[in-house]
Amino acid sequence: MALLEVENLHIAVGSGGKLLPVVQGVSFCVDENETLGIVGESGCGKSLTSLAIMGLLGDSTVRITGGSIRFDGMDLLTLSAPERRAIMGNRMAMIFQEPMTSLNPVYRIGDQIAESIRQHQQISRSAARDRAVELLTLVRIPNPSERVDSFPHQMSGGQRQRVMIAMALSCDPKLLIADEPTTALDVTVQKEVLELMADLQDRMGTAIVLISHDLGVIAETCDKVAVMYRGKIAEAAATADLFAELAHPYTRGLLNSIPVVDRDVEWLEAIPGRVPTLEETLTGCAFHPRCALATDFCASRAPETSQFKPNHSVQCHFAGGSTT
Ligand SMILES: Nc1ncnc2c1ncn2[C@@H]1O[C@H](COP(=O)(O)OP(=O)(O)O)[C@@H](O)[C@H]1O
Ligand SMILES: [Mg+2]
Repeated sequence: MALLEVENLHIAVGSGGKLLPVVQGVSFCVDENETLGIVGESGCGKSLTSLAIMGLLGDSTVRITGGSIRFDGMDLLTLSAPERRAIMGNRMAMIFQEPMTSLNPVYRIGDQIAESIRQHQQISRSAARDRAVELLTLVRIPNPSERVDSFPHQMSGGQRQRVMIAMALSCDPKLLIADEPTTALDVTVQKEVLELMADLQDRMGTAIVLISHDLGVIAETCDKVAVMYRGKIAEAAATADLFAELAHPYTRGLLNSIPVVDRDVEWLEAIPGRVPTLEETLTGCAFHPRCALATDFCASRAPETSQFKPNHSVQCHFAGGSTT
């Protein structure tokens, strides 16, 4: 049994009295010590999927309308969101793109880490502070016993993201969800933060769900990949199998969108157009308006998930394979 099993998850957004589907039948699983990458352009439903797992879909406009989420043998959706947070608080942790939105600017980072430790463990203030210094050491902040007294604005973007990782790890979670953790960072710092996450995973065995719009980031870091397009999994496989042969035209487009830094190319517009908004109704395959291979059939019928290769699934009429 996998640590996390998401099955046929549906999420809808309420707008003007009617529900618009935003996540439509998403399934994946993650084992202990494994990294799953979820990749797709902005607006595909990656963040809502991760917030659903964390039990953080708080406001009533966004609702889980179907499917199941099992974690460590527990069926999470049978619990209310607050119950779930109470039970799961120290077994799952999440980090976000912009650490400044999660860090409080008026408190020293050491106090914030210590506070987060004391929410989960009954230890003294001074023990929590010692643990904060240890965690800062673990995430390779230089001079941790001095930096523990810094305010967030006194640190660089990369250091703040390391502090967020330290806070996430303070409760020793089994699963870490990182939603675009390096998107706001420059390439070198991005690489360091990703290496840090991989290193911590090796040491602690944490399962990681890494969300990114950048297929290059996912390729370097993840054991397996789920490519998301407009609320569905367009293609999924182990990373090596995926790159051995990309099955979905969308994934091929994402690969071509990786900016080439060492050549004089600004950005290749590999996929024309944009992700349709929730309000735009579409028949057939959601990708067909942007797809070079699309036919009338694609415009009229949505593809089912089929097995492209063993353990490599795809939703495309043209990818071949057998329909499941
Ligand atoms: N609270 C919300 N209310 C209404 N629509 C939302 C809300 N959150 C997200 N959405 C919409 O749901 C879609 C998926 O959003 P999101 O999961 O954030 O995508 P991603 O993380 O892949 O960029 C987007 O079209 C977004 O505008
Ligand atoms: Mg997002």
